[in-house]
Amino acid sequence: MKEDFLKYQAQTSLYPLGMEISHAKGCYIYDVQGNAHLDFVAGVSACSLGHCHPKVVEAIKKQADEYMHVMVYGEYAQSPAIEYAKLLQQNLPANLEVTYLVNSGTEAMEGALKLARRYTGRSQIIAAHNAYHGNTMGSLSLMDYEERKAPFRPLIPDVNHIRFNQDEDINLITEKTACVVLETIQGGAGFIVPENDYLKKIRDKCNEVGALLILDEIQPGFGRTGKLFAFEHFNCAPDILVIGKGMASGMPVGAFIAGRTIMDTLSDGPKMGHITTFGGNPVIAAASLATLQVLLDTSLIAETLEKEKLFRETLTHPKIKEIRGKGLMLALIMETPEIADRLVLEAKEKNLILFWLLFEKRAVRISPPLTISKEEILKGCRVILDILDGI
Ligand SMILES: Cc1ncc(COP(=O)(O)O)c(C=O)c1O
Repeated sequence: MKEDFLKYQAQTSLYPLGMEISHAKGCYIYDVQGNAHLDFVAGVSACSLGHCHPKVVEAIKKQADEYMHVMVYGEYAQSPAIEYAKLLQQNLPANLEVTYLVNSGTEAMEGALKLARRYTGRSQIIAAHNAYHGNTMGSLSLMDYEERKAPFRPLIPDVNHIRFNQDEDINLITEKTACVVLETIQGGAGFIVPENDYLKKIRDKCNEVGALLILDEIQPGFGRTGKLFAFEHFNCAPDILVIGKGMASGMPVGAFIAGRTIMDTLSDGPKMGHITTFGGNPVIAAASLATLQVLLDTSLIAETLEKEKLFRETLTHPKIKEIRGKGLMLALIMETPEIADRLVLEAKEKNLILFWLLFEKRAVRISPPLTISKEEILKGCRVILDILDGI
C-alpha cells in the first residue's frame, strides 16, 4: 500500500509518515500490521467525537439511503442542512443568524472574505502575524510567512498584518478596513490564547470604524476549548464566524455564518455572489447535525477542561518548557525543535500519535478526540514521559 501511496498519490512533503491504515474506532487508529495507535491528534482536531462515532455513522448511512447530491447549494430545501443551520443558530449569539455551508475550512474563509468586501464596499483586509487560515489563494494571502507565499505570488492585494495580542497595532484598523480576520486561538503559531481582553478591544475598534470582525474557529470550535465556540471565553462575538474541521467529526466540511443583512449581500448584486456544487451536501450535513447533537446532549464539552487539567498535571518534565492552549487544544513547547521532532517520531514507534504545528517548530500538538477517557490520557502521557526521559 505504501509503495502505491508514494507512487500514485500527490504528496505534501518528501517524507510523509505513511502509516498504512486498516480501520479506526474511538480513540484508536489500527494499521494493517494490526497495531492499535492511541490518537492524540484526532486528524488535526477534526474527529471531535473520535473515529466512527456510532451516532455519526448512523446519520451518514441513513441519509445515504434517502438521497445524496440532488442540486447545487442553495436551490432546494433539504432537511439535514436546514435542521443543522437552525440548531447552530439556536446556540450562537443573536447576530449570527444564517449559515452558508461549504466543503472545507479554507473555502469557508474565502466566502467570509468575499462577504466582508461585498458588504462593506472596502478592500483592506487585516490579519495577524503567524496566522493560518488555509491554503487557497485568499487564505494564503492572509498568511504572513514569506517563505510559504513567495512561490505563489501575486496573491490578493490589500492585506495588512498586525501582531496578535499587541494592543498598539489595533490602531492600524481604520475606516479603510473591510475586515479583521483572526483565529480566536492561534493554531499554527503555537496555540496562542488572546490575553488582556485583546479580542474585546479588537471588537470595539471594528465597531468604531465600521469594519467586520471575522473569527476563524475552524480549530478551536465545536467544544475543543471547553465552550461550543472559543470566542465565548473572551467576551467577544464576531460578525462572521468561520467553522470547519470538528463540525462533522471527520467528514469534509466548512461554513461561514453571519447576520441576515450581511449575508444577503451575497445573493444579490451579483446574484449568486458565492456558489458551490457540493456545499450543504445532505450526507455531510447529517454528519454535522449528529455531531452537534451529541456535543449538546452530553457533558463532553465541560469535561474538556477537566481533561486539560489532567494533561497539565501529568505532563510535567524538565524537557517540557510550557504547555500552551486551552481545553483539548494543547501544545507542548519543548526545549528545541529537535526534541519536538524526536518526541513525535519516537511516539509513532510506540503507537502513540502526536503531530507538529505549522510555524512553532518547538511545539508538539495534543488535540485528541473530545471523547478520550482519563485512562487513555494517562496511558499516552506515560509514553510521552518515558520518551522524554530517554532523550
Ligand atoms: C485555524 C484554521 N483555519 C483554516 C484551516 C483550513 O481548513 P481546511 O484544511 O479544512 O481548508 C485550518 C486547517 O488546519 C485551521 O487550523
